[in-house]
Amino acid sequence: MSDSPYFSAYRASIDQPLEFWANAAQDIDWITPWTSVMETGTGPVPRWFVGGELNTCYNALDRHADGGRGDQTALIYDSAVTGVVEKYSYSELRDLVARFAGVLAARGVGKGDRVVIYMPMIPQAAIAMLACARLGAVHSVVFGGFASRELAVRIDDCRPKAVISASCGVEVDRVIEYKPLLDAAVDLAEHKPDHTIIYQRDMATASMVPGRDLDWEAEMEDTVPHECVPVSATDPLYILYTSGTTGEPKGIIRDNGGHAVALKWSMNNVYGVEPGEVWWAASDVGWVVGHSYIVYGPLIHGATSILYEGKPVGTPDAGAYWRVISQHGVVSMFTAPTAIRAIRQQDPDGELISDYDLTNLRSLFLAGERCDPDTLGWAGDQLGVPVIDHWWQTESGWAIVSACLGIEHTEIVPGSPGRPVPGWQVSVLDPDGEKVAPDEIGAICIRIPMPPGSLPNLWEAEERFVKTYLTGFPGYYETADAGYKDRNGYLYVMARTDDIINVAGHRLSNGALEEVLASHPDVAECAVIGVADPLKGQLPVGFLVLKVGAAASNAEVVADVVAAVRSEIGPVAAFKKAVVVDRLPKTRSGKILRGTIVKIANDEPWEMPATVDDPVIFDDITTALESVGYPRRVAGKD
Ligand code: COA
Ligand code: AMP
Repeated sequence: MSDSPYFSAYRASIDQPLEFWANAAQDIDWITPWTSVMETGTGPVPRWFVGGELNTCYNALDRHADGGRGDQTALIYDSAVTGVVEKYSYSELRDLVARFAGVLAARGVGKGDRVVIYMPMIPQAAIAMLACARLGAVHSVVFGGFASRELAVRIDDCRPKAVISASCGVEVDRVIEYKPLLDAAVDLAEHKPDHTIIYQRDMATASMVPGRDLDWEAEMEDTVPHECVPVSATDPLYILYTSGTTGEPKGIIRDNGGHAVALKWSMNNVYGVEPGEVWWAASDVGWVVGHSYIVYGPLIHGATSILYEGKPVGTPDAGAYWRVISQHGVVSMFTAPTAIRAIRQQDPDGELISDYDLTNLRSLFLAGERCDPDTLGWAGDQLGVPVIDHWWQTESGWAIVSACLGIEHTEIVPGSPGRPVPGWQVSVLDPDGEKVAPDEIGAICIRIPMPPGSLPNLWEAEERFVKTYLTGFPGYYETADAGYKDRNGYLYVMARTDDIINVAGHRLSNGALEEVLASHPDVAECAVIGVADPLKGQLPVGFLVLKVGAAASNAEVVADVVAAVRSEIGPVAAFKKAVVVDRLPKTRSGKILRGTIVKIANDEPWEMPATVDDPVIFDDITTALESVGYPRRVAGKD
């Protein structure tokens, strides 16, 4: 077993990382070769391909457009919500991107400048990202389901020269106007971008502020295509904000060189996809999966990527994914377990699958949240192809633990995403930083150096980067996930060690939710917990303690905070339940016992915490949970 292709590749990546990644880097077109494959001591973590120069957009488009794939489809836009399917060849996409890069350049955007992209799932989102990459500008895509305040926080943090957006998105059958949300965000933000560039869609026309707001189509009409600008391997390609423990999002930086190398390597070695084949990541460009596997990975690889605007269910039915797979000949797809649960809920026997020809499909990859073995098993039985749970994070940029189908079809163990992907040294540690025994739970950490593509830092927040990720376990990067490894080295990812809630594969900070609740004038104290949900994995539930003499009734305060989360964080938080309680359960030192509340809500065994200041309080909490539909437990039972 230890001389299997997987083990050989893994050992080579750990024993000779420089040779391993220098070899992988041959698949990328470099303008200037690197002087050092990996350099330590110049930042908080080692940097890859130092001294090298390249352009990520060139690697994603031009080299294919000019190198024999010009007529091959690069991108398929499949919009289940509007009924539109559009195909862009590598040449067409390159030309559009070069033109849009010309638009940005004419408006003063250059190398190193930031550009915020707040877009629905339309091709212009990918074009905008690639145009930034072409110029060496740093994009920061903000998911469309975030509201104005979240957008404003990101605008203030990265201070973009321009914001690119569209008039609207379409959520199943509702048109969501983006421009009023953008206008409100620009009003809220201290930093004012010079311009916004708006793509007007047929379903809504955005009103424009003269001088500041520019029309995408009008700008594209008389622009000059822009060439690829050489950038250093270590220059940032993008900033992607993700939730941290506080309300302040963390700006994850991705550099150009390591990212291109890692994604290109992963397309074949992890996903088993060949250049020219059709690949589909059903995510959103606002998330890391969208960055890595809708836009950059498949294009750098020379594959065909699908950009899908729709849902797994309701657009029009639970056969939507199977329709896309069969219509476009998808060989492998990537989605979140929640999407499979949604499909299963509506089509438990998979009857809609038989309406479609899925003969091209070879594998289904799942990530974004823990995948329960039942969901994995259902998908495998229905589709008859390997279903692979794999584990990674915004920070890693690509898979940390997965079966690597391009190397070897290793055994799939339901409940585990598998063993570490080459390049990643994954350890489970106790609080003293010692490796725990097999099957023992601990903090999942990654030995430094991490492979190319992993985050080198946080945007203008190095101290926070070091404190958050590198200080808890010296010599390791702390993932903030807890879990265990079994005797065969399979990892099981069980829970977060920080206050992060995972709702439908989206990462939310309960600190950020609590900030919104606490800002209500009648709320004295609050807590948000993540309760298990059969569809979305987790759902947030709020607990509110009101001020004495509160002006509003309990029901009014609950309605207010639900509305406030929707308008300040966004509908994606799916925050619909909150209850008023007299007090929150706390330790004697004042720490809110969120973990115990979660256990009660989830109907899991729990014990009265020894440090609780007043045990009777759990009766009130149990009653409160019951009022919003969660199981009633008797204090101390089990
Ligand atoms: N712009 C505006 N609003 C958005 C939005 C966007 N881009 N994306 C989501 N929303 C809104 C939705 O309309 C919904 O609003 P509602 O409360 O009025 O119904 C809310 O945000 C929650 O959206 P969503 O999480 O998509 O839930 P849903 O109930 O509409 O659909 C699923 C449930 C399971 C079908 C859906 O969550 C899903 O497809 N999940 C897959 C997750 C995924 O791909 N994750 C990526 C990580 S790999
Ligand atoms: P994000 O950065 O939004 O992609 O969220 C990453 C987090 O989602 C991880 O740290 C995990 O907590 C969770 N996650 C992602 N994939 C998996 C998986 N396959 N199994 C368990 N948890 C996962």
